[in-house]
Amino acid sequence: MDKTNILLLGAGGREHALLKKLSESPRAGKLYVAPGNGGMLQLAQSAPVNPDSPTDVADWSAANGIGLVVIGPEAPLVAGVADAVRAKGIPCFGPNANAARMEGSKEFAKQVMARANVPTAAYKSFTDRAACEAYVRELDGPCVVKADGLAAGKGVIVAQTTQEALDGVAQCFEGAFGDAGSMVVVEEMLEGPECSLLALTDGKTVVPLATSQDHKRAYDGDKGPNTGGMGVYSPVPAVSDEELSTMTQVMERVVAQLAADGITYSGCLYGGFMLTKDGPKVLEFNARFGDPETQVVLPRMHADLVDVFLRCDAGNLNANVIQWDDDWAVSVVLASAGYPGSYESGKRITGIEKASAMPGITVYHAGTKADEAGVIHTAGGRVLAVTAVAPTFAEARERAYAACDCIDFEGKQYRTDIGARAL
Ligand code: AMP
Ligand code: GLY
Repeated sequence: MDKTNILLLGAGGREHALLKKLSESPRAGKLYVAPGNGGMLQLAQSAPVNPDSPTDVADWSAANGIGLVVIGPEAPLVAGVADAVRAKGIPCFGPNANAARMEGSKEFAKQVMARANVPTAAYKSFTDRAACEAYVRELDGPCVVKADGLAAGKGVIVAQTTQEALDGVAQCFEGAFGDAGSMVVVEEMLEGPECSLLALTDGKTVVPLATSQDHKRAYDGDKGPNTGGMGVYSPVPAVSDEELSTMTQVMERVVAQLAADGITYSGCLYGGFMLTKDGPKVLEFNARFGDPETQVVLPRMHADLVDVFLRCDAGNLNANVIQWDDDWAVSVVLASAGYPGSYESGKRITGIEKASAMPGITVYHAGTKADEAGVIHTAGGRVLAVTAVAPTFAEARERAYAACDCIDFEGKQYRTDIGARAL
């Protein structure tokens, strides 16, 4: 069998999960990461490239015999890294920049959704602050204010009152989210449980992966500020067959609409849904795998990920190449004290090996770094994602928390109620 050398871009728990699955493929050749983290660098070599630079990634890949570039985070996608890699004739997993606008511009995503007749919150978008404020006053109640562009998971203000909404509008236009806030989207507030559905696509065929539910707030009981995600489980028992079928159709319609508009979406499309009493409605799309959703979806998936990713790029994806476990997965994020605000790094982490040896446990690294002696230290806000798989939801949850107890570092912070509501 031909081996494929792979360059994976990114440094989060999502990328560690992708790398682990790729490394298990019989087709995997040499593995490189940029920049990687303490866990990823145990499985792959570091590549000296700037992951956000299209020419850097494309040139290095061409010069080093790379047969597949896998892009984890959104920034390189929006910057056009996939375009540059494909222009060299190298297969790439991740959409080109025109398709990545599904995440890069909320206004663009809303327009595609309108054309595809996909249920989502009613909205208006503004480049003029006074007009935006006037609209928020006219709504006179709860609404959601969003900076249009990429804002690293921030840039969304869920406002219960007109004053909170006005404060959000001010933050956007005063540059709190950089350029992302020069256009502002104001949305109707939706209510219900949230559910993520990731789908792989080659631009024609859409293969939905398992459902998952993230916990975005920092503290127990969904209190505190929004984060990148503090924990997640899969699948989501609250989702009915009818809701799943609606969500799947949404993913298919969006990919078909983009194709009709002349845009091939190839890669992972992430649909964030609110399960409202009128059915699932889209909160947002992302142009990549979710983090931490990937850390519960991939461990339950049986597939040769190198083959699947090459198929997405080549346009010959089919649903038969992916099978699922019946097991449940729960992942708990261990974060640094202070996250998502400021936090300290460089704390020694103990117990990862002990936790990893427990049945059903995989510890994915996010913000970690190995020192010269190979000892792992904290190096970010979200430090580790501790994932457990088990035959029942309750068991998966117990295993995950038992493993979290084994791991220690100064300032270890985590939610104790991941999946509690689903139980
Ligand atoms: P987003 O980055 O757009 O997914 O927004 C982050 C979070 O804000 C979502 O996961 C929801 O919890 C919340 N959110 C976004 N849009 C809405 C909406 N229209 N109604 C209620 N909550 C929302
Ligand atoms: N967990 C949310 C995201 O990946 O955007």
